[in-house]
Amino acid sequence: MPREVTRKQTKPESESFFAACAEETVRLGRCLGNLVQAGDCLALIGPLGAGKTCFVSGLAEGMDVEGRVASPSFILMRCHPGPVYLYHADAYRLQRAEELDEAGLYEWLEHGVVAIEWAEKVRESLQPDALQIEINYECEGRRLSFTPANPRHQEMLEALRKCAG
Ligand SMILES: Nc1ncnc2c1ncn2[C@@H]1O[C@H](COP(=O)(O)OP(=O)(O)OP(=O)(O)O)[C@@H](O)[C@H]1O
Ligand SMILES: [Mg+2]
Repeated sequence: MPREVTRKQTKPESESFFAACAEETVRLGRCLGNLVQAGDCLALIGPLGAGKTCFVSGLAEGMDVEGRVASPSFILMRCHPGPVYLYHADAYRLQRAEELDEAGLYEWLEHGVVAIEWAEKVRESLQPDALQIEINYECEGRRLSFTPANPRHQEMLEALRKCAG
């Protein structure tokens, strides 16, 4: 009798980078901005003032989109037109995760890249294949941890490592 081989589902490997200053956070965002494509959802997680908006400003540079990136805290989403549109959302003030769907998350993803600050507040509304980017305070700088959800993310992280290194 052949021995049954069970395939173990392992969690995808996270990749983390240390950014010693704000410009390094921006640079990591810029590197990722060169790699994203329409339909990508970036779930930004991290405490108050971690550097989420800072990262998105680099992302916008890398994507070559229009408009200055600012914290969208008082509006749910700010749209930056470009070769591929960037939809910069902030879930901080949402009461329910579904509010993001209702606002048009799925339409945004059809047209561009969606970067959501405070994504931990809307986990239930995010598709399982969002690329998770967690930013935490470390020493004087920040640690950015990327958790891929699919093989393309893994390739993106490979390229990000080369760009950041
Ligand atoms: N790697 C870093 N090292 C030190 N300071 C940083 C780093 N990255 C970003 N910062 C600084 O952290 C501060 C907060 O940045 P930012 O507004 O992007 O945070 P945020 O996570 O979007 O905040 P909020 O929770 O209010 O949305 C800024 O002053 C920025 O310059
Ligand atoms: Mg912010």
